[in-house]
Amino acid sequence: MAPQIIALLGSPRPKGNMAKLMNEAVRGARDAGCEVEIVHVPKLTFGPCKEILYCQEHAACGLNDDVTPYFEKFRDIDGLIVATPVMTMGIPGALKSFLDRFQVFFMAKYFRKEPLVSPEKKAHRRTLLLSIGGENIEHDFDGVILSIKAFCHIIDCPYWDEVLQNNMDEVIDITTRPEVMKAAYEKGYHMGELITRDMAE
Ligand SMILES: Cc1cc2nc3c(=O)[nH]c(=O)nc-3n(C[C@H](O)[C@H](O)[C@H](O)COP(=O)(O)O)c2cc1C
Repeated sequence: MAPQIIALLGSPRPKGNMAKLMNEAVRGARDAGCEVEIVHVPKLTFGPCKEILYCQEHAACGLNDDVTPYFEKFRDIDGLIVATPVMTMGIPGALKSFLDRFQVFFMAKYFRKEPLVSPEKKAHRRTLLLSIGGENIEHDFDGVILSIKAFCHIIDCPYWDEVLQNNMDEVIDITTRPEVMKAAYEKGYHMGELITRDMAE
């Protein structure tokens, strides 16, 4: 079976710059033989974690909404692409709320010590982060990277690599930066190749 990858788009704009860059990484991963499901997170209907702590005792969330099917899917995926713009120095709200709901994985792994992802699965899983920011300032991606790295630990899908482009307020259109588009394609392709290789071992 082909490696299964989920690509999370955190931008509200389905045809914005983040989507354009994500599509290159997705194209690369597909060319490497992976199956990729794109999830436009701001389009989902769901609420944030309410800390009812149902997941402390159960391998499930007490809320039932559009996030629910993804708990099972995130146990099964072989790779993850996260494509998110910087908003207020971090991850945009909808995507952040989506990630927070994976407290289901946190409780299983760290509280009950019954991880939802097997060591064999974890061994070949990888995450590629793509992020863009409008500003040209130091530390623009620090918040995004810290959150995504934490999420990668929680769901046992190790942080592998990244493509970052700041200064989008001047760049305007990401396609005018072919080297960045190429990096996204190549990293998507390379991640797909590595996952395929490791799954065959
Ligand atoms: C609500 C909001 C907050 C933002 N906050 C930041 C920020 O803190 N740092 C930054 O570099 N860019 C910030 N930006 C700019 C976006 O990261 C940038 O415009 C990006 O290219 C948007 O991606 P898109 O084309 O997919 O919409 C913000 C944009 C919005 C709409």
